Amino acid sequence: MLCKNTANKLTFNAFLSGTPARDYIMQDTPYDEQISQAVKMINDADYVLLGAGAGMSTAAGAQYGGKFFEEHFGEFQKIYGKNPYMQDMYSAGFYPFPDQESKWGLWSRLALTAGADLDVTPLHKTLLDAFEGKKLFLLSTNADHQFEKAGLSAEQIFATQGSYNLIQCKRGCHPKTYNAVERFREMDAARRNGRIPSEMVPKCPVCGGDMAMNLRVDDHFVEDAAWHEAEHRFGVFLSEAQDKKLVLLELGVGFNTPTIIRFPFEKLAREHENINLIRLNVGEGATVPASLGERAVGIDADMAKSITDIVSGVRGD
Ligand SMILES: NC(=O)c1ccc[n+]([C@@H]2O[C@H](COP(=O)([O-])OP(=O)(O)OC[C@H]3O[C@@H](n4cnc5c(N)ncnc54)[C@H](O)[C@@H]3O)[C@@H](O)[C@H]2O)c1
Ligand SMILES: [Zn+2]
Repeated sequence: MLCKNTANKLTFNAFLSGTPARDYIMQDTPYDEQISQAVKMINDADYVLLGAGAGMSTAAGAQYGGKFFEEHFGEFQKIYGKNPYMQDMYSAGFYPFPDQESKWGLWSRLALTAGADLDVTPLHKTLLDAFEGKKLFLLSTNADHQFEKAGLSAEQIFATQGSYNLIQCKRGCHPKTYNAVERFREMDAARRNGRIPSEMVPKCPVCGGDMAMNLRVDDHFVEDAAWHEAEHRFGVFLSEAQDKKLVLLELGVGFNTPTIIRFPFEKLAREHENINLIRLNVGEGATVPASLGERAVGIDADMAKSITDIVSGVRGD
């Protein structure tokens, strides 16, 4: 027998989209007017779906390169040279390390710096203040747990690309992840000349092979039970919200992985007249599909400012 609600069920896979809008425009509405439009969209909504990308952490103060990198990764620049890898945390992770001791020497430092020890939550907290009384869910490609640290319940978060706190079998031989924060701290303390002692190198408890970060970089990314539970909760939220007063608030999502948040948000708004889209970004990232008309607002400004202004408007400060 067919379940009555089947037609309205929306899964994460059905939500994903690889198709960009064909009619991007940069809106020429003045900034203050756009903020008012965004405030009205939030006030009118019963459901809010946040979609956060790397720009959210950047706007909140997270740093990855420049002086910050030299300060925290200077010893690795000395060992490996100031080549294109050793410029920022993202690139450094892809260095072709000669052995596992060297790989975890750098990665334990990187995982802690970009994850467990990162604390840029004031902007995240400010943002969360805007949604009292509304049903809220966060879809994020960030692995740095900043919304959780800011107080959002883990039940309301689906972080699709993994976590800086977790490791997995490199080959993904079994569907489990392991919290490695304490091991990272031990490795960080024991490192000499960029390498950790051999006995600290993590090994897969099932196949005995190498371990890797639980970050989606290849086809071996492990989606463990917690990942699937979060995926399910996301589907439940979306299935319930898609026909209601829903606003999509996109936070610093660019064109690196646009198929997870950016394009799907456009598609969702295109297919449902009850859904509005607020896109916060800088430069071309702030373009929105012209065909959405007044149901989309694309605000081209540093989110440290646009978020603060929107939240003040919603709270009536
Ligand atoms: N914090 C993290 O966990 C982290 C950090 C970097 C990369 N990643 C990974 O790399 C991938 C990157 O994809 P993505 O789409 O998130 O990033 P992206 O680099 O494609 O886009 C980031 C966007 O944020 C915007 N932005 C940057 N600073 C901003 C500011 N102050 N105000 C407003 N907008 C700002 C940029 O214009 C850009 O469009 C993700 O899949 C993620 O897994 C994660
Ligand atoms: Zn294994």
